[in-house]
Amino acid sequence: METVVSGIRSTGKLHLGNYYGAIQNFVKMQHEYHCFFFIADYHSLTTHPTPQNLHENVKHVLVEYLAAGIDPEKATIYLQSDVPEVIELYLFLNMNAYLGELERSTSFKDKVRAQPNNVNAGLLTYPVLMAADILIHRATKVPVGKDQEQHLEMARTFGNRFNRMYNVDYFPEPYAFSFSDKLVKVPGLDGKGKMGKSEGEANAVYLSDTPEIIRKKVMRAVSDSGPTEPNQQKPEAIQNLFDLMKIVSSEDTYQHFDQLYNSCQIRYGDFKKQLAEDMIIATQPVRERIQEIASDTNYLHKVATFGAEKARESARKTLTAVREFIGFKRF
Ligand code: TYM
Repeated sequence: METVVSGIRSTGKLHLGNYYGAIQNFVKMQHEYHCFFFIADYHSLTTHPTPQNLHENVKHVLVEYLAAGIDPEKATIYLQSDVPEVIELYLFLNMNAYLGELERSTSFKDKVRAQPNNVNAGLLTYPVLMAADILIHRATKVPVGKDQEQHLEMARTFGNRFNRMYNVDYFPEPYAFSFSDKLVKVPGLDGKGKMGKSEGEANAVYLSDTPEIIRKKVMRAVSDSGPTEPNQQKPEAIQNLFDLMKIVSSEDTYQHFDQLYNSCQIRYGDFKKQLAEDMIIATQPVRERIQEIASDTNYLHKVATFGAEKARESARKTLTAVREFIGFKRF
């Protein structure tokens, strides 16, 4: 059976981008593959959270994984920081990761732009840690959104380089995976790029947002004064809202509003109202379970402890082999 690994950075509550880009695939894959889903808490340190924030955010991800339907009996759910073997592999991979290729990574360049006063080495080697997360379980499939594609390419590069260097055929090539024919990119509500945690509160719809909040956010989403010519191309902000509708609404609903747009009869108020209602329906089952799971500290403790054991067992096997390839020997 193929092995699957994926994770989400613990930098806050999960949003629709995480849900459609990653978690929905996690939930389906757990029935078909050998799955490891973790909380990338080491990765979250690049933005220097306070200890309390760090813990709260890890809890958000753990609770929301469970609320979305990941079953800890089927998939291994764990905290990255509970598996120190990851860090050892990260160190080994860092020895063969080169400054030039790390500096060329799009996500690194974005971060340098976004946080010029905090360009730490952890940001630069972020893709190496991510490769270690994946290679530690020798995974071949990695359910992620479109934004992670380049990181997957780097993970393949680092794994292949290790194999060549030690003349082994140990790490298989991991590929980004989605059940839909393309990798998903969920747009945000700000009329520009993707939905994301760092793009400001109003840009993202969170799985834990109440229906009132969702309505408010969607009604305030960036739009324009409406089409003036039949079948005109949609400007980016409008296209984004249509893309969101394509994800959360039925095909009929989407077609209905698309036709209204194309015949210049669309009323954005109605369009947004419908979009908000469909988002509320789509997230309802997850939202309803979040509160209940969050208050069950005992259960969370059990899930994390059980997951850590299983993940470490798998990680230890890899590290034993890797240390031997490299030439570390006991005296
Ligand atoms: P992160 O925490 O930014 O996002 C977690 C997952 O959600 C997906 N995602 C989106 N998909 C579609 N549209 C969006 N707007 C959107 N926003 C987020 C991401 O593609 C991702 O799948 N580097 C990773 C975490 C990570 C990881 C790993 C993932 C660390 N190690 C190993 C896979 C395997 C990250 O920052 O994702």
